[in-house]
Amino acid sequence: MTASATLEAMDEAISQKAIPAEISQTAEEQRATVSLPTAIDRVVLTGFMGSGKTTAGRRLAERLGWTFRDLDSEVERREGRTVPQIFAESGEAEFRRLESAALASLLGQHRLVLALGGGAPEVLGNRLLLEQTPKTAIVYLQAPLETLLERCERAAEAGETARPLLGEAEVRLRRRHPVYDRLADHRVTTTEMDVEAVCEAVLAKLRG
Ligand code: S3P
Repeated sequence: MTASATLEAMDEAISQKAIPAEISQTAEEQRATVSLPTAIDRVVLTGFMGSGKTTAGRRLAERLGWTFRDLDSEVERREGRTVPQIFAESGEAEFRRLESAALASLLGQHRLVLALGGGAPEVLGNRLLLEQTPKTAIVYLQAPLETLLERCERAAEAGETARPLLGEAEVRLRRRHPVYDRLADHRVTTTEMDVEAVCEAVLAKLRG
């Protein structure tokens, strides 16, 4: 396209009051009650099973007017099977492969709050991808094992989430804690906090 053709196209857009996609607002964004520095375009919540990634992530996205995605749900949607089904039928290695593929595809989105699965950061390729995705803030939601197990038990009783690896929680948490910690830009301890308090704490960290 020549320079004059470009200018003509711009004039045309201005005269039609066409607003570039990046500055037009969705209904969700208009309802948003908080905003983040422009250097952040994605918030990724990490932490062990029961740390509140999904619950807090959904609420955080609502407050920001951003899109919320849960990595486990994305795997289930793409695969047409639940996480426990994938573990039972195909094994953990296959689940991890599906999880990495879903992560790579989700990280292309903007204005995204993403709740990772508890095991996703154990995979080196996932960590590299997260670290190299620009404008991505990673927040580690942490809590003691006892609290995490209590929450998972409550969720299981309510029929919410079956977690195939819960039996190995203690060993896995010990192994993962340093991994979560190193990967994170921010850490929030969620013990005794309700979802609103967790959101506030995450927002405070992100806004510096
Ligand atoms: C897993 C955590 C689960 C889910 C799968 C494996 C793990 O996600 O990805 O059951 O390895 O810790 P949540 O952390 O959302 O429960």
